[in-house]
Amino acid sequence: MAEIEKDFRRSVVYQIYVKSFCDSNGDGLGDLPGITSKLDYLATLGADYLWLTPFYPSPQRDNGYDVADYCAVDPRYGTMGDFDELVAAAGERGIGIMLDMVLCHTSVDHEWFRRACAGERRYQAYYILRDGRGSSGPGDPGEPPTNWECAFGGSAWRWEPRLGKWYLHMHDPSQPDLDWTNPEVRAACADVVRFWRERGVRGFRFDVINLISKPEVIEDVPGSGGACRALVADGPHVHEYLRELVERAGIDGMVTVGEMASTDLENCIRYTRPEDHELSMSFSFHHLKVDYAGGDKWALADPDISALRDILRSWQEGMQAGGGWNALFWDNHDQPRAVTRFGGREGIGERGGSWEHVGKMLAAMSFLMKGTPYVFEGDELGMTNAGYDSIDKFDDVESKNAYRMLLERGATREEALDVVNERSRDNGRTPMQWTAEPGAGFTTGTPWLAVPATHALVNAEAEVGVEGSMFEYYRRLVALRHASDVVALGDVRFLDAGPAAPRVIAFERTLGEKRLVVACSFDGASCELADLGCDGMPVLLGNYDGVPAAGVLRPYEAVVWGEA
Ligand code: GLC
Repeated sequence: MAEIEKDFRRSVVYQIYVKSFCDSNGDGLGDLPGITSKLDYLATLGADYLWLTPFYPSPQRDNGYDVADYCAVDPRYGTMGDFDELVAAAGERGIGIMLDMVLCHTSVDHEWFRRACAGERRYQAYYILRDGRGSSGPGDPGEPPTNWECAFGGSAWRWEPRLGKWYLHMHDPSQPDLDWTNPEVRAACADVVRFWRERGVRGFRFDVINLISKPEVIEDVPGSGGACRALVADGPHVHEYLRELVERAGIDGMVTVGEMASTDLENCIRYTRPEDHELSMSFSFHHLKVDYAGGDKWALADPDISALRDILRSWQEGMQAGGGWNALFWDNHDQPRAVTRFGGREGIGERGGSWEHVGKMLAAMSFLMKGTPYVFEGDELGMTNAGYDSIDKFDDVESKNAYRMLLERGATREEALDVVNERSRDNGRTPMQWTAEPGAGFTTGTPWLAVPATHALVNAEAEVGVEGSMFEYYRRLVALRHASDVVALGDVRFLDAGPAAPRVIAFERTLGEKRLVVACSFDGASCELADLGCDGMPVLLGNYDGVPAAGVLRPYEAVVWGEA
């Protein structure tokens, strides 16, 4: 197999939600042989790495992020032989496989938890167990130990009669958190990573990895409500644990990315500065909360573009100043589709509608900022939100809990469905749209999650090799990322687009004599642009046919001036 040693600053990562990418055996679920069958498509796009979401044995309470065995393949996704074949076939095309490591928690079905429940003290010490508040003694649960709430709604503690204790779960009750203060847990996690490295994996994505180090004292979050993420995020030993993990697993220098929940700039610099030997880059999420009314994911608001600009500026310029490195993305399997979110609702699948301009504008922006761009499956086609007509079409545990919560708060069924349609994680989990056929070319059977109606227009068959398509635009951006030093390595600085362009985000990239200026409009109307100092510079890229008008950006226009 070809040795893959790629500079992650020049690379593009493509995220595959395994369950929804390609079904090779007609059971309605994507699988590993399905991915292998699409490697030529991914090579055509130019992907350097494929991040595969979890395909390990799992009861699927959280779609595989509840892992029952870290070192095996769930039969519904294939076999270890299929995995080895995928690694080899990808390697032949110069593509590296990155795996998703879910090491903050296990599933309740994991052997460690089952042995803990069966009374083995060694494994009880793998989890975070507490007595209840106000308990009168063994057998009496009392109340949960603290007021903490889990990410998907409800208490973060679950009483387990076989343990006679409450266990902590920051996510679903079926996902007990591991106790990383236990050295045996840390060693076991490093063994998992080493196992996959030795099977030829070239990189890793670490799930909610900044939640592994809990506060020294576990106590109530002050005030009402028990949102505890901020309290747990970037905990006291997280950097030490990460360095240890990387060293023990032997992955220093490989491409790695940490998913950082409720994090801050200072910690992300530390996670990703090369001299600290932690990770190559980090995902942060502040820029994807600019349409949460009052900070509530389940309350709709229009995206606040000046907040978006401020967040991106501070992360772009701040990570650069501190020597850190950003992962660049709009979409993943936990987000609604950005093209819908930022306004691309017209002319879906057609040339010239806002759909096309928004999709291309977002792509240009994320590929041209400083960091490593991630393409989530289907972004390169312009896939949209699901637009389901019934709550029964949703699968995600968080979405279903939110729907119930909205009804309890007094919303009507239609109102609750509207909110879930905008915000559900299932928007990013619908089957990949390969063709206009009924199963979207994803499956010959019944897909595990309904295919959005837009697949009739937005699909790979209609776009690959078709001039001007979203796919070909992405392909061009990938090539630019590979070829251009200023794009991969240049400095970034945000620019002021002027008072008449409040919904424009502009920045420059510079390296030696080279300068690129990028202006991206999130405005559905035309607007006048301030002087960005690019008079006389050639237009490298736009998202409209023909040349941009001087000093004006059209709706959702993106223009890049300069020479790559
Ligand atoms: C991450 C994953 C998400 C999962 C959660 C718990 O945020 O991306 O899908 O539900 O961790 O593992």
